[in-house]
Amino acid sequence: MKVILLGPPGAGKGTIAKALMQHDGSVQISTGDILRAAIAAGTTLGKQVEAAMAAGNLVTDELIMDIMEQRLQEEDCQQGYLLDGFPRTIPQAEALKALLAKLGETLDCVLELDIPRDVIVDRLTTRRTCNNCGEIYNIKSKPPRVEGVCDVCGSDIVQRDDETEEAIENRLQVYNQQTAPLVDFYRNDGLLVSVPSSDIEPVMQAIQQRL
Ligand code: AP5
Repeated sequence: MKVILLGPPGAGKGTIAKALMQHDGSVQISTGDILRAAIAAGTTLGKQVEAAMAAGNLVTDELIMDIMEQRLQEEDCQQGYLLDGFPRTIPQAEALKALLAKLGETLDCVLELDIPRDVIVDRLTTRRTCNNCGEIYNIKSKPPRVEGVCDVCGSDIVQRDDETEEAIENRLQVYNQQTAPLVDFYRNDGLLVSVPSSDIEPVMQAIQQRL
């Protein structure tokens, strides 16, 4: 399956991608994770994007397309992929369409995770992430077995730099202005499937039925 996961910050894109990955063997490609890894490694790319990400702004379409053009042609993408956090602007969606046409590939669907705003803020302020393997936790709905320690790799669990109240507010505005128009873009292409992002199990059941 070649699937785009679309939804505002905190909608559950990463959580659902990881669950689907275990289910059907597709690879999760998260542009946010790729950029955070570059920051942690102190690369040129990391230095270029650090300030924009901490403030909750998008990084440039050019940088993202450079990354994704390479990534989508790697071997592990042959089995299918779940795009988490990409595309995020109309120019990125147009560029992805052109790239897939060039590669002779098509998307299977765009899964929109629909979530009320008050739930978003609650989920983001209670989310914790492993600083090594990226496993996602929530101190309310999915706590680790041992407080502060990742169940998967034993590393520290932390809050992300873009989880301040100010950055969250900005990320929501940026989503409404720059990413929400993708809902109509993909609806017009006949690819959009909307699922309410309620508790994890019902969300997974709804997705599996629709896919
Ligand atoms: P990115 O990392 O993509 O962040 P985001 O889109 O803001 O999404 P999040 O990772 O915050 O949320 P999520 O939807 O994955 O939710 P999660 O599963 O964690 O991007 C970060 C930054 O990178 C951007 O701001 C930008 O600067 C840059 N960037 C990235 N891609 C870019 C691009 N293409 N173009 C330009 N810039 C780009 O879940 C959240 C919490 O809720 C967790 O605690 C989880 O346990 C819990 N939860 C999830 N689902 C459920 C559920 N169903 N029930 C109960 N709890 C749930």
